[in-house]
Amino acid sequence: MADGIWYEDDIARVVVTEEQIRVKTEELAKQVAADYATVERVLLVGVLKGAVMFMADFARALGRCGRPVELEFMAVSSYGQRATSSGVVRILKDLDRDIAGRRVIVVEDIVDSGLTLSWLLRYLASRSAATVDVVALLRKPDAIQVQVPVKYVGFDIPNEFVVGYGLDFAEGYRELPYVGVLKPGVYARA
Ligand code: IMP
Repeated sequence: MADGIWYEDDIARVVVTEEQIRVKTEELAKQVAADYATVERVLLVGVLKGAVMFMADFARALGRCGRPVELEFMAVSSYGQRATSSGVVRILKDLDRDIAGRRVIVVEDIVDSGLTLSWLLRYLASRSAATVDVVALLRKPDAIQVQVPVKYVGFDIPNEFVVGYGLDFAEGYRELPYVGVLKPGVYARA
């Protein structure tokens, strides 16, 4: 442990490696760049805090594909006990500018129940975005039950709790460069 990175002892299994994320992000950016070839500036909307790593890498990948972007962030929280379980979402940080008539891409870390996303899509439509697409790095099986159109998906992963690359457990582990599953002992400690 002394020579290692602190979190390595806490990880049971890596689900998506750093290299897989890098390659997939380039692939997704190429698809989006092709689909948005005629759009002057793509407006990326990231949901804090989980999407922050993916947003940063995806925006730079789009830049390498020759697509200019603008970045907007929102922060939301749910009234429910589990994040978004009630489907009622409170805005903690709203968009900084008008998105009327803009072609918007929501950048999501993970789609689980899909409730946050379905609320967000309704909200962006109510703010008169011209079009709204979604790019999500990860998708869990339950998301398929909800009718949320996620046009660009990185990885379909099993239905288990994951951390890393923006995703947290009790606000920790966001800085991991990969996505992994925690050892059961970590939860016992919490
Ligand atoms: P949804 O509304 O159920 O689709 O989930 C939305 C949010 O819950 C995601 O944007 C994440 O912030 C969080 N979330 C869902 N699954 C996980 C996970 O496995 N690890 C960490 N956070 C998660």
